[in-house]
Amino acid sequence: MTRRDADVTSLVVPQDSVVTPRASEADVYADVTLRPSSLADFVGQRELVGHLEIVLGSAKTRGQSSDHLLFAGPPGLGKTSLASIVAHEMGSGLRVTSGPVLARPGDLVALLTDLQEGEVLFIDEIHRLSRGVEEVLYPAMEDRRLDVMIGRGPSARSIRLDLPHFTLVGATTRTGLVAAPLRDRFGFVGQLDLYETDELRQIITRSAGLLGVELRGDAAGVIAQRSRGTPRIANRLLRRVRDVASVRGHPTVDAGLAAEALDLFGVDEHGLDKIDRRILSLLCGQFAQLPVGLTTLSHACGEETATIEDAYEPYLLREGFLIRTPRGRVATDKAFAHLNAHRPRGGLV
Ligand SMILES: Nc1ncnc2c1ncn2[C@@H]1O[C@H](COP(=O)(O)OP(=O)(O)O)[C@@H](O)[C@H]1O
Ligand SMILES: [Mg+2]
Repeated sequence: MTRRDADVTSLVVPQDSVVTPRASEADVYADVTLRPSSLADFVGQRELVGHLEIVLGSAKTRGQSSDHLLFAGPPGLGKTSLASIVAHEMGSGLRVTSGPVLARPGDLVALLTDLQEGEVLFIDEIHRLSRGVEEVLYPAMEDRRLDVMIGRGPSARSIRLDLPHFTLVGATTRTGLVAAPLRDRFGFVGQLDLYETDELRQIITRSAGLLGVELRGDAAGVIAQRSRGTPRIANRLLRRVRDVASVRGHPTVDAGLAAEALDLFGVDEHGLDKIDRRILSLLCGQFAQLPVGLTTLSHACGEETATIEDAYEPYLLREGFLIRTPRGRVATDKAFAHLNAHRPRGGLV
């Protein structure tokens, strides 16, 4: 083994951390550096962006805060980016928090009473707010009003506080997870979908420029193809390709090097990783004869049901590797072919 090979091998990280769309620690910094700051920089999601331009444009014309906005979609598709773009487009400040952080109603009260006129309050993972916190949010969203209880027992009384105008931006992985009364209080709900390869190619080209990585030929296309329709993964794969290029001393990255680098990290031409392959091999093996429910699948592959549903399934469904039937998940012919497996006779599909 040459010295150079040793360096490259030492770069190998646990394979399943490369393509899960959830943000890793390294992404948190990279996401901030690479995050588009205006709607013009935001690639794809044309319909959603079109609607948002209208909603924000109209609010600006009226000189008012925009309606409350909810963004839903799998991790890594741009929900947090959109929240900061909303603040930027409205020329207002942004406060960021998340459902799990707001443990008690008082935490939300403190945040709301500290808002400045016109600010944007972003609550990530808004489906994880507790019931008590949600109840503080309802009158705040509807009437910019807070009813705060002072004291305890017989002398307790409620006082009413008026809040400044503000825009609440919520993010969730699935709208179905948000309680109906909360969902109904958003004036606009935008659903983000997985990106097309062409859109990811544009995102990768832009990020490469920001990171100072020179891509040649269709290197961006090779990375885009393996990014599971997810910008966060596209940026992550780009960084791994850059790492391989830099330890090998290549000043530029061509398509061949990009493919080789991604093979090294266990990301195949479809962008599937170890967990995707585990899901598919269960569906094409142990469960090849019958549809399997999400809970069973989750136990069998050792991943949480929510992770499978939010992070893995959307891409496997879009690419036609599995289908959902009323009785459960079933592998398609494409999945059997990808794994070189044979569909047993008497199968249900
Ligand atoms: N439409 C987009 N155009 C360009 N880059 C994007 C886009 N959507 C997401 N990204 C990139 O992906 C990263 C992850 O996006 P983020 O907004 O944090 O996703 P989410 O909040 O939905 O998990 C961002 O830092 C940004 O670099
Ligand atoms: Mg986010």
